[in-house]
Amino acid sequence: MKELIAKLPKTELHLHIEGTLEPELMFQLAQKNTITIPYKSIEEVKNAYNFTSLQSFLDIYYAGANVLITESDFFDLTWAYLCKCKAQNVVHVEIFFDPQTHTKRGIAFKTVIDGITKALDKGEKELGISSFLIMCFLRHLSESEAFETLHESLSFKEKILGVGLDSSEVGHPPSKFERVFTEAKNVGYKIVAHAGEEGDSSYIWEAINLLHVNRIDHGIRCDEDEKLVELLIQKQIPLTVCPLSNVKLRAVQKMQEHNILKLLRRGVIVTVNSDDPAYFGGYMNENYEAIAENLAMSKEELKSLAQNGFKASFLSDTKKQHFIDSISVY
Ligand code: ADE
Ligand code: ZN
Repeated sequence: MKELIAKLPKTELHLHIEGTLEPELMFQLAQKNTITIPYKSIEEVKNAYNFTSLQSFLDIYYAGANVLITESDFFDLTWAYLCKCKAQNVVHVEIFFDPQTHTKRGIAFKTVIDGITKALDKGEKELGISSFLIMCFLRHLSESEAFETLHESLSFKEKILGVGLDSSEVGHPPSKFERVFTEAKNVGYKIVAHAGEEGDSSYIWEAINLLHVNRIDHGIRCDEDEKLVELLIQKQIPLTVCPLSNVKLRAVQKMQEHNILKLLRRGVIVTVNSDDPAYFGGYMNENYEAIAENLAMSKEELKSLAQNGFKASFLSDTKKQHFIDSISVY
């Protein structure tokens, strides 16, 4: 299985670029930019990555992002991630970034997006990795701050394919941002949203009925509601599932209890993703390996998961079919 996982062409559809900040780069950037971080050593950073909930992770994740200051910092961060993709045969990525995490600290939107997109362009040319960029609104902030960010993004619209919704889920339902997403859809953005990670199935219903999402990020709590599972299957709304993240943040108690395989067998378009790999102990291959080791999955099911990644992507139908066919021969 491990060999097959390494060989298969893969997509990544749920990846926060700020969540790829490895402790080594965090230290390097902290020193260069003279930013104080609350750790004395890389060992100490790794020991701090012991989470009990989504919020316990987010507190550390936002503190880590403080070291990102210049365009070259965002470039280096993104380039390091793309090199990892190349090593793991991830051939197409749809990356999230959180502009508000940076604009709130006085970093210009342009600095962030220029650094990321220069690395993505180089990745396409030199590594053959295709990519799209998705801008997420921080749901713990207000509707008016999301509107401000949406309007600011319009100057860079040709570089951004879609919008998403992330950060602290419970208490900040999709309905809080219905008007923002209506406008985002009207200007032509694709729509995704985190829902059903810690929040219950009502968050997924709202993401579908109020935000009109193209796909759901996480969505694992859908199985609390049979009608919702049926809708996901009938409308073919994909879920971008992140197995290691779910266990690390205790949305799932242990990997053996993860419902990704059950949902696949029901006909839900589930995909495998790494979320914040520098914090959760694994990139794409490690996520596939974790489920292959802990769930009784066949090779054909593993291939279906990889094919679902292409099916659920925003690639053209021709490109999707090319990759789906290339996986079937393994
Ligand atoms: N931001 C980064 N990772 C996240 C996650 N798993 N859920 C919500 N917001 C996030
Ligand atoms: Zn996420």
